[in-house]
Amino acid sequence: MTKSTKEIRKVSIVGTGAYLPEKVLTNHDLEKMVDTSDEWITKRTGIKERRIVDNGLATSDLATQAALRAIEDAGVSPKDVDLIITSTITPDTLFPSTSCYVQEKIGATGAGAFDVLAACAGFVYALSIGQCYVSSGAADTALIIGAECLSKITDYTDRTSCILFGDGAGAAVIQKSKGRHEILATYLGADGSQAGILTLPAGGSKMPTSYQTIDERMHFIKFRGKEVFKLAINTLTDLINDTIEKCGLTVDDVDLFIPHQSNFRIIEATMEKLGVPMEKAYFNIDRYGNTSSASVPIAIDEVSKSGRLKAGDIVLLAAFGGGLTWSSSVIRW
Ligand code: COA
Repeated sequence: MTKSTKEIRKVSIVGTGAYLPEKVLTNHDLEKMVDTSDEWITKRTGIKERRIVDNGLATSDLATQAALRAIEDAGVSPKDVDLIITSTITPDTLFPSTSCYVQEKIGATGAGAFDVLAACAGFVYALSIGQCYVSSGAADTALIIGAECLSKITDYTDRTSCILFGDGAGAAVIQKSKGRHEILATYLGADGSQAGILTLPAGGSKMPTSYQTIDERMHFIKFRGKEVFKLAINTLTDLINDTIEKCGLTVDDVDLFIPHQSNFRIIEATMEKLGVPMEKAYFNIDRYGNTSSASVPIAIDEVSKSGRLKAGDIVLLAAFGGGLTWSSSVIRW
């Protein structure tokens, strides 16, 4: 259970974990499902394959595996966790929250649990909320998760969208800082006037599920790809420039950029606009596709386990998604 607030404390990521389903869906597999080619997908998106969850599993199952790995990495017990925040656009159910299912599955008895919905920018939104709880003393050990089963809302008859998405989960445990992996800043933004360009139209109160919404395939992700593509590059570039300026840094001070993995060409164009060499950008989109909320925490976990960074390095997380939403965070490794 969270407590009343005490003092302002610095906050660190003390453990990370990720979980990817074993089943791989390659571009060659997709060639057999829709009119596409490995060459087109690779050239236009950078994606070679993505992971797909088994039918009987839900987002909380992936989230639980990632969470248990992060908890073990942090060297804490599930009983120490007093707050769980999951970012997802594919919750197990509209309610209860996916965080409540995770709480029960990991045995974090009594921990506060709720979900955040900010699409692909959601993990950093959740991290920012968790940071506020821990920095104020309202929580001591928060579990922040980004998890998705996007395959469940992907239309595998639509070649423009089914090539992009994959399933997966990533998690981070945050606590009062002990010096390493300190969260220096987080920034959030949104523009609701662009809500219609990237959305899941049916299943909410605006368009409840009906035979008609199913016939019209409105229970699958819809987007206007070219518009999203341009907005993503411009928004990410402005977001990164604003973030480093507010932190009193320059682009050169950043040792590693971890952008949301939506399209390799979006990452490439953003880095080019910033004047940053691609070696400074992390990408794994070739292996996992776009996993929405899960993409940033999966990348953080891979970076963390790879030994690529040394103490004191500056890492910048930047994400963009439906809403529109965007979010960034600066971490001193
Ligand atoms: N295989 C082969 N051809 C395809 C195809 C596929 N999977 N998907 C589309 N095409 C065709 C189109 O029909 C079009 O053909 P035409 O020129 O005869 O009309 C052509 O390829 C070009 O399509 P276009 O939509 O202009 O491609 P693009 O370069 O913009 O790439 C996306 C499309 C979807 C990959 C790209 O716009 C994108 O990544 N957008 C962002 C998507 C998004 O919202 N992601 C989530 C946000 S975080």
